[in-house]
Amino acid sequence: MPTRRNTARERLKTLLETSAETETGNGYLDLLGAANQAGPPTGITQRLMRTTLLPRIYERYWRPVLGRALKGPSGPSMAGEVTLATELLRLRPGHTVLDVACGTGRFTRAFGAAVGPDGLAIGLDGARTMLAKAVAEGGPDTVAYLRADAVRLPLKASTVDGVCCFAALHMFAEPETALDSFARVLKPGGRIALLTSARRGRQPARLIESAGGIVSGQKMFDRGEVGASLRARGFTAITERYAGVTQIVAGRLG
Ligand SMILES: C[S@@+](CC[C@H](N)C(=O)[O-])C[C@H]1O[C@@H](n2cnc3c(N)ncnc32)[C@H](O)[C@@H]1O
Repeated sequence: MPTRRNTARERLKTLLETSAETETGNGYLDLLGAANQAGPPTGITQRLMRTTLLPRIYERYWRPVLGRALKGPSGPSMAGEVTLATELLRLRPGHTVLDVACGTGRFTRAFGAAVGPDGLAIGLDGARTMLAKAVAEGGPDTVAYLRADAVRLPLKASTVDGVCCFAALHMFAEPETALDSFARVLKPGGRIALLTSARRGRQPARLIESAGGIVSGQKMFDRGEVGASLRARGFTAITERYAGVTQIVAGRLG
């Protein structure tokens, strides 16, 4: 008798482009095999995510503290981010949602609850250590985890109702290719929600923020840049929220 979590993994398998064996016995499917890294390395921050220590302190300390520093006092709390992402994606019972670069699965678990027993929340990440922690955290039976490259999503076209990518787009080697991939897997009318970097336009803040991006290996997007990229890919109803050096950008495909 399969458990519901097995059922979620089985449902995820039907959405993949490949029929290759992906079971690891670790509670997640794996498309990266022996490769330690998903895609080309981009620097220290991405490397930190693959250590064994960071996933242990990530949800409780690292993400809230660093997030507050980057968002500033006006930005949403962590709980606020999860609520906002769920609302921006307009998640409903029965939806399939993809949490790209899910880390330890904080958002994925919330999405799993929002889509109900007939829905599916897929958490995708490249780091084994992050996924091991995500699996250990448990959560709704509607959640399934996948180790794969966020830039070239291995899902069939037009298969998901929502794509979330928080705190990661700026870390990818090819963020524009990732956006192409996000648009490809979304169904027409599907929603996207992104939280990423946003450097300010005025000096000296711009210079300092750009230097910070170079040192940490992360792209500093300009304000409006991600919204424009979504528009160019056919997204409409685009909203942009800025706080500190972050932006939350959302939209609908078509
Ligand atoms: C800062 S965490 C964000 C986690 C979560 N989305 C959040 O908002 O807290 C960034 C995640 O991106 C993952 N990541 C970075 N580059 C990736 C890639 N090319 N493919 C898949 N995952 C990647 C890292 O392993 C890490 O778990």
